[in-house]
Amino acid sequence: MGCGHVGLVVAACLANLGNKVTVIDIDEEKVKELNKKACPVYEEGLAEILKSVDIEATSDYQRLVDSDIIYICVGTPSKKEDGSISLEYILGAAKQIASVLKQKKGYCIIAMKSTVVPGTTEEVVIPILASSGKGVGHDFGVCMTPEFLREGKGIHDFMNPARVVIGEYDKRAGDVLCELYQSINAPMLRVNLKTAEMIKYASNAFLTTKVSFINEIGNICKQLGIDTYEVARGMGFDQRIGHQFLNAGIGFAGPCLSKDLKALIARAKQIGYEPRLLEEVLSLNQRQALKMIELLGKYIPLMDGSIGLLGLAYKPMTDDVKDSLAVEIADALLREGAKLKAYDPQAMANFEKLFPQIEYVSPEEVLKCDAILILTEWEEFEDLDYRGKMVIDGRGISKAREARIYEGVCW
Ligand SMILES: NC(=O)c1ccc[n+]([C@@H]2O[C@H](COP(=O)([O-])OP(=O)(O)OC[C@H]3O[C@@H](n4cnc5c(N)ncnc54)[C@H](O)[C@@H]3O)[C@@H](O)[C@H]2O)c1
Repeated sequence: MGCGHVGLVVAACLANLGNKVTVIDIDEEKVKELNKKACPVYEEGLAEILKSVDIEATSDYQRLVDSDIIYICVGTPSKKEDGSISLEYILGAAKQIASVLKQKKGYCIIAMKSTVVPGTTEEVVIPILASSGKGVGHDFGVCMTPEFLREGKGIHDFMNPARVVIGEYDKRAGDVLCELYQSINAPMLRVNLKTAEMIKYASNAFLTTKVSFINEIGNICKQLGIDTYEVARGMGFDQRIGHQFLNAGIGFAGPCLSKDLKALIARAKQIGYEPRLLEEVLSLNQRQALKMIELLGKYIPLMDGSIGLLGLAYKPMTDDVKDSLAVEIADALLREGAKLKAYDPQAMANFEKLFPQIEYVSPEEVLKCDAILILTEWEEFEDLDYRGKMVIDGRGISKAREARIYEGVCW
C-alpha cells in the first residue's frame, strides 16, 4: 500500500525476486501511470524493473484479500505545529486493511515499512487491525521492518542494505519475512516492534548529528582560518569516526532527515524528556543555511546586482526540491528584493513551480551573475570555469576555489 519511493522500490525488488506483487494507491493518476508501465518517481533502475516484471496497480483495496503479506508504505509527513508525524495515512491504510481482514480466510502478515515513532505499530496500528475481530499473533501477524534506502539509490540500497531489521509481534511473521529476504546478503536483526521503529529514528538522528557536528567544527575553523575539509579528512581515517557524513556545508536537507529528527524530538517531549542534543542539532542546521546570505551581504548589498544559484535539488541525482535548503535560501533572498538566476541539472521544473519569479538559465548564464551561490554538490559543478567570479560555496566544490573571490560557508 503506497506507491511512493519506498512502496515502488519494495514492490519492484520483491517482484524481481520472483514474488507476485500488487500495488495499491489512493492516487488514481499514479495507478493509471503504473498500469501503462510508466514510473511516477525517479529512482535509478526502477523504470526498467517495472517494465520487466508483472505488477498490477489498483486503487481497490479489496484486492488485499488475496495477499499473504501486506506492506504499509504510505507517507508519514511532519505536522507543522510541533514536528510530530501525522498518522493520517497510516490510520487510513490500517482501517482499510481491518475491513478486509474480516473476509480473509488464512493467516496473513501486515508489515509496516513507513517510518513511525516508537510505539505506533503496537499502540495505534494493531488495535485498528484487531477491531476486525481477528486475533493478532494467530489470525494475522505483524512486523515492522524499517526502510533505510537513500532516495534515488533505492533499488541498490534495498538489494544491498547494510542490515535488515525485522521487528516482530509474533515469531511466525518474523520467520516469513526472513524467508522472503533470504537472498539479500546482509546481517539480519530480529527485534520487537518498538525497537525496530527506534533503530530507524536513532540511525537518522545520528546522521544528522554528524552533519551538524562537522558544521559546528567548520564554523569554528572558519574563524580560525583552518580548512574544515582537511580537518574532516584527517578525522575520517579513524575507523571509529569514518569519512561519511563529514562534508561540512549548509546542512542536511530532504524529505526524511529533518522530518525524522523533528518527529523523534516531538516523541521524546511527549513522554516528558527534553532531548537537548537533538534540538541543538536541528537548530544549528536551521541557522547554517542562512550563513550563505550573511556571507553574501559582506560583498554585495542584496538589492543590487544579480545573484546566481547553482543547485536547487536537496541533493545530487534527484529532481526533488522538497525540504531543499535552496528553497529557504531563495525565499530569504527574494524577500530582500534580490534578482535571482538559477540552474540545476534536474530540479529546475520543480523549483519553478515554487518560484516562478526566478530566471532559469544555463550554468554559463548563472556564472555571469555578480555573485554565485553553490547549493547542491552536483558533480558537473566541478567542470565549470569559476575564474574571475565571486563564489560563496555551500557544498565544497573544489574547482570553485579558483574563483576571484571564494568563501566556503564554514571553511
Ligand atoms: N523517501 C525516502 O527516501 C524514504 C526512505 C526511508 C523511509 N521512508 C519512509 O517511508 C514512508 C513512505 O515514504 P515515500 O517517500 O514513499 O512517501 P510518498 O508520500 O512519496 O508516497 C506515499 C504514497 O502512499 C499513498 N497512500 C496514502 N494513503 C494510502 C492508502 N490508504 N492506501 C494506499 N496508498 C496510500 C499516497 O498516495 C502516496 O502515493 C514514509 O514514512 C517515509 O518517512 C522514506
